[in-house]
Amino acid sequence: INDVNKRLMNFYRVLKEKPKELIEEASQYIYDKAEYYRLRTRFNEEHLSDVEDAAILLYLNKTGYNGLYRVNSKGKYNVPFGRYKNPRIVDEERIIEASKLLENISINSERFYSVNKHAEMGDLVYFDPPYLPVSETSDFTAYSKSGFGYEDHVLLKNTCLDLDQRGVYFVQSNSYVEPILDLYKDIGFRIEIVQMNRAINSKTSKRGGVNEILVTNIPKKKIDTQ
Ligand SMILES: C[S@@+](CC[C@H](N)C(=O)[O-])C[C@H]1O[C@@H](n2cnc3c(N)ncnc32)[C@H](O)[C@@H]1O
Repeated sequence: INDVNKRLMNFYRVLKEKPKELIEEASQYIYDKAEYYRLRTRFNEEHLSDVEDAAILLYLNKTGYNGLYRVNSKGKYNVPFGRYKNPRIVDEERIIEASKLLENISINSERFYSVNKHAEMGDLVYFDPPYLPVSETSDFTAYSKSGFGYEDHVLLKNTCLDLDQRGVYFVQSNSYVEPILDLYKDIGFRIEIVQMNRAINSKTSKRGGVNEILVTNIPKKKIDTQ
């Protein structure tokens, strides 16, 4: 697995290598507004050990508003406290299970196009890029707030073309918006429209039932017969 977000990849590494320490550390944190802001400040200001960094990230993810991960222009995590009935911060069983699943997985923090260095013929690569927001599509060349704009989507498409040329399979999820559909039409890749249930959306009305797309070079027959 790979993500340019080093803190996210630190989380996966700690989950893989030190699940018990992660459980022990995160179990000390309680669901409370003052505790949330204390830990958020600590997360932004202190130099933390890898375990503490991962434990606070887990805590903020489970107790922050809508489970969002958002940073400001200075890279500071700025999601406000979230209201939940009785949030489960540490699910020991899932942590241990996830740790086992990660046993033989290498965890990297590079830009997505570096996949070209690693993938070999017959491999399958899954891309889960930041989506091009629907509202930005009127001027979709504008810099995306996520730091991943239209130009990055063009680069991602070229990366997919390179992989395809080398006999590497790929699946990419993306938003169902005109500029993305335009990028992938007429080049021979398959586009499937899928209905997603979105847990993360600031507007409750928009959670659930969102159309997204999967772009892939896996022939339909190959999926049907396996
Ligand atoms: C839709 S999220 C996917 C999250 C991930 N699949 C997970 O479950 O934790 C998109 C991710 O792309 C990452 N990202 C943004 N720009 C990137 C780049 N140039 N190369 C690699 N990853 C990037 C972001 O850090 C973000 O975590």
